[in-house]
Amino acid sequence: MSKKDKTVVKPWGGRFTEPTNTFVEAFTASVTFDKRLYAHDIAGSIAHARMLAHVGVLTSEEYEAIVEGLQAIQDDIEKGHFVWDIALEDVHMNIEASLTQRIGDTGKKLHTGRSRNDQVATDIRLYVREEIDAINTQLLRLQTNLVDLAEQQLDTIMPGFTHLQTAQPVTFGHHLLAWFEMLKRDSGRLADCRSRVNIMPLGAAALAGTSYPINRNYVAELLGFNDVAKNSLDAVSDRDFAIEFVAACSLIMTHLSRCSEELILWMSAQFDFVEIGDSFCTGSSIMPQKKNPDVPELIRGKTGRINGHLVALLTLMKGQPLAYNKDNQEDKEPLFDTVDNVKASLRVFADMIPTIKVNAGNMREAALRGFSTATDLADYLVTKGMPFRDAHEVVGKAVRQGIILGKDLAEMSLPELQQFSGVIQSDVHEVLTLEGSIASRDHIGGTAPNQVKNAIESAREWLSGL
Ligand code: ARG
Repeated sequence: MSKKDKTVVKPWGGRFTEPTNTFVEAFTASVTFDKRLYAHDIAGSIAHARMLAHVGVLTSEEYEAIVEGLQAIQDDIEKGHFVWDIALEDVHMNIEASLTQRIGDTGKKLHTGRSRNDQVATDIRLYVREEIDAINTQLLRLQTNLVDLAEQQLDTIMPGFTHLQTAQPVTFGHHLLAWFEMLKRDSGRLADCRSRVNIMPLGAAALAGTSYPINRNYVAELLGFNDVAKNSLDAVSDRDFAIEFVAACSLIMTHLSRCSEELILWMSAQFDFVEIGDSFCTGSSIMPQKKNPDVPELIRGKTGRINGHLVALLTLMKGQPLAYNKDNQEDKEPLFDTVDNVKASLRVFADMIPTIKVNAGNMREAALRGFSTATDLADYLVTKGMPFRDAHEVVGKAVRQGIILGKDLAEMSLPELQQFSGVIQSDVHEVLTLEGSIASRDHIGGTAPNQVKNAIESAREWLSGL
């Protein structure tokens, strides 16, 4: 830091006689990371200035000078010419000081009827609102790619699992649509959260409001807020909207992590259900045969980090008395890191989906092993009048015999099956085939290919209706 930086006059320096300790200055500053909010800060300031002019606190010449100055600052920032100064603490004071330097004393009037407390709360809300929309766009892109793949895999049969043990046959299309549904709820959560994010704190000033004749609704309209915060103390202090947003992001990552875990398993030699394209995998420096699913692994890993940010924000908030406390400055880095990593994860996951090669033969093979149609046999016995609990017992015995013989139920002959129950007839083999099993689950939400087809249609409708 240069000598010149140390002599910067603090906007709050009036009541102080000693300069800030240099280390404290760096310790308390946030400009190194909150400069990222510059565009939102400037948009908020322009709207505030316009309102001040509207109610007669600023003249129209003063307003115009402020807007021109702020726009020039934005231009400089975007061209990389703006010099950020740690001695000016944060993005707000850096921009305001530069404005005053450019347009003179009029720059100092911008902060009339405002505090950094309502200013920063406004900036973060504008930022989160924008990022919600960006994340939603990424979500929709991923969902579209999933639906496209599901359509191609409409009747690809694979084992469905519970406890990671073969349970019942399903189609791969059906499985992919399960992922789609998870992400659909994530999108809904973001939309829901957005309605609470989009409330304007400006006007709360430091904590109690302001004595100037401000028009909050006017500013809210200029900035596209749905409403103004109804309590000034609450408006400057709570970051629940950011916590809620990060919680929604945590769930997005949790879902991506679960999908990733499945892809990783399926890509192992033991499953060999899918292969992710070379451009999304890496090799090993020592084992030449390796093709590692790094992208899904990294997404699974990043989920822990986002969950950590959620806990950080919750913990940041829990002990704070009303109203604003400097603790809140710590909300930014977890928030920014969450946004960056969720967007990157969604993007790379979406890009990876079309590179997936599906080994339908192996999926089918696996479904044929593991007695995946055992429930179908029990259901068959029930249609012949046997109570389900008895049918369960009969099929259990048939499975035990199948294990001894090394045969799946469908491979057992009619006389072999009839040893377990006389009600079994020659029509039994229809229900023991994978196709028969799948086709029979023919209701909304079931795995029958015609139901999956309907589900794809509704998914496409939902995607286009947004
Ligand atoms: N940098 C601060 C933050 O991020 C801005 C608000 C500072 N307000 C104050 N009274 N010190 O929260």
